[in-house]
Amino acid sequence: MNFKRKDLLGIQDLSKEEILFILETTKSFREVLDRPIKKVPTLRGRTVVNLFFEVSTRTRMSFELAEKRLSADVLNFSSANSSLVKGETLLDTAKNILAMKVDCFVLRHPVPGTPHLLAKKLPIPIINAGDGAHEHPTQALSDIYTIQERKKRIEGLKIAIIGDITHSRVARSNIWGLSKLGAQVRVCGPPTLIPPLMEEMGVEVFYLPEDALRGVDIVMMLRIQKERQNEGLLPSISEYIDFFSLTEDRLKLAREDVLVMHPGPVNRGVELPARIADGKRSVILDQVVNGVAVRMAVLYLLLAKR
Ligand code: CP
Repeated sequence: MNFKRKDLLGIQDLSKEEILFILETTKSFREVLDRPIKKVPTLRGRTVVNLFFEVSTRTRMSFELAEKRLSADVLNFSSANSSLVKGETLLDTAKNILAMKVDCFVLRHPVPGTPHLLAKKLPIPIINAGDGAHEHPTQALSDIYTIQERKKRIEGLKIAIIGDITHSRVARSNIWGLSKLGAQVRVCGPPTLIPPLMEEMGVEVFYLPEDALRGVDIVMMLRIQKERQNEGLLPSISEYIDFFSLTEDRLKLAREDVLVMHPGPVNRGVELPARIADGKRSVILDQVVNGVAVRMAVLYLLLAKR
């Protein structure tokens, strides 16, 4: 298969075949990460600019590492130290950086659709590194790769995503991707944090983890954004913990070989206790290492043949 896209903006508009092709390409880059010398010359002479308008640890470092592992030149843009503070628009900023002959933008922005705007206006590949509550495609690809690596399949797996579904770009991208590959996805959280029309995405909705966890192969916990309490969407964090935290007793309802996932950052003691986050069923750090390989694959597919 030829991957013919200019950009990676989301999982919603990818076909099943395209997702499988990215996952297949990831395999060879994952192998590079286990070598003593973790670098290939694939993108030598290309320049990638990381434009991050929101805080990030995993995605930002993972993209930078992926770019360096592929021998690309890397520029990291920090909005706080840029002429954006003098009133320059994002589009003008991007056009000025493009005039310096760079080859790709990786963009994280709090406003949904911002990567789509840059993709429409600029001739070089744009990679969405998270746009508001909309999509986080490379996180979902890392998660799906991790599940495939451990379970050897996606089709037919029962997967529960628990937490703040409404504000989660990770949930949205995973729902699109996992459903396209034939998994049965369930979401669970307080009614105030479950968006309408979930069933139309082919997803089952539960309001109690005791119901959602029954017989699942995978449980994916989502970060609770503490600011939601000020918006009146959560009565209190301690009540959330009582009802939704992943306890050992709740986890017993899942399959014995259940995998526990979390895209990070984890609020230990809120979404799940340290004992489970660091326990034998947790693949949280596998998600992180696979994230580098997925991002290498995406950069390779978008840039190497241009
Ligand atoms: N998973 C994720 O996007 O983490 P960061 O916000 O640290 O990049």
